[in-house]
Amino acid sequence: MKEKENQRSLHHNQKNLVNVTMKLFAKSTAYVILLLLSYTLGYLSSTTSYSYTPPQPLTDDGPAIVPANQLDNFRVTTRCADSLPSQLVRQTIVDRIFNATSPYANFPPPHVSQLLRTKRVKGWGSYGGVFERLIKKVRPRVVVEVGTFLGASALHMANLTRQLGLETQILCVDDFRGWPGFRDKFKDIHMINGDVLLYYQFMQNVIYFNATDTVLPLPYSSGSALMKLCEWGVVGDLIEIDAGHDFNSAWADINRAWRILRPGGVIFGHDYFTAADNRGVRRAVNLFAKINGLQVQTDGQHWVIDSTVNV
Ligand SMILES: C[S@@+](CC[C@H](N)C(=O)[O-])C[C@H]1O[C@@H](n2cnc3c(N)ncnc32)[C@H](O)[C@@H]1O
Repeated sequence: MKEKENQRSLHHNQKNLVNVTMKLFAKSTAYVILLLLSYTLGYLSSTTSYSYTPPQPLTDDGPAIVPANQLDNFRVTTRCADSLPSQLVRQTIVDRIFNATSPYANFPPPHVSQLLRTKRVKGWGSYGGVFERLIKKVRPRVVVEVGTFLGASALHMANLTRQLGLETQILCVDDFRGWPGFRDKFKDIHMINGDVLLYYQFMQNVIYFNATDTVLPLPYSSGSALMKLCEWGVVGDLIEIDAGHDFNSAWADINRAWRILRPGGVIFGHDYFTAADNRGVRRAVNLFAKINGLQVQTDGQHWVIDSTVNV
C-alpha cells in the first residue's frame, strides 16, 4: 500500500516537472521569438535601411527613368563659383596656375631644346567635321578640351576660331603623360629621367602654329583641373572630352565637365564607337544623358550633347 502511494507521488512529481519544463520552454521560445521579431521590426523601420534594386538594362530609347531620390547618390560637395566673364579667363588661369607669367615665356628651356622637333602633331579624329560644325554653331569664347596630347584637335579648333574671327580661349586639360607605354609608338618623344617630354612638344607645336594667344595648357589630371575651374568660376561654351576612354574616366570627366558648361553650351567627345573597355565611353555618355534627360547625337566617331536639347 505504502509502495503504491510512493509510486503515485513519484508519478505526480514527474508530471509537475514536465509541466514546469514545458512552461519554461514555452516562455524562453516566446522570448527568443520576441527578440527576433523586435530585431526584424527595428531593421525594417530603420531610416538608414538600404533596399537593393537590381541594375536595369540600359537601353538607348525612352526618357530618363531614374527616380529623383536616387540622384542623391551623385551629389558633390563643391559649389562652382559664379561664372567669370570670358575676357578674364586667360589671365585668371595664368595668375592662378603659372604665377602670373605666360608658360610660353622663354620657351624652350635649355635642357629640352635639343630634344624637341620643330613640329610633331598626331591625333585621332582630330580634324573631323564635328569641330567645324560645333564651332560655327556655338561660336565659343571659351573652349575646354579634356585630353590634348600633342595638340592636334586643339590647334585645329584654334585655326577654325581664327578663320571665323572669334576671340576664343582654348584651355587644354592634360597631364601630358600620355599613357603607360605610349612611347612604344612615339619613340621620338624623348624622356628625361622617366619624364616624357609631351608637355614641351605640345608647347613647341602651339608656338609653331602661332597659337600662343589662343591655346593655354592646364597640365594636371582632369579631375583636379576641372574641379579648380569650377571653383574659379571658369565656364566653357564648348567642352570636348577626349582623355581616358574607360567607363570610369569618361564618366568622371563628363560629370565634372558638365558642371562648368555654360548654360546653353555643348559638350562632345571622341570614341563613341570604339570597343575600348567594352565601349566604356558610350556607356558613360548614354548613362549620363539618360539620368539628366538629355539627348545624345552622333557626328562621325563623336558624341554630342547640346544642353538646350532635352528628350
Ligand atoms: C586620345 S589623347 C587626346 C587626343 C587629342 N584630343 C587629339 O585629338 O589630338 C588622350 C590624352 O588624354 C590624356 N589623359 C588621359 N587621362 C587623363 C587624365 N585623367 N587627366 C589628364 N589627362 C589625361 C593623355 O595624357 C592623352 O594625352
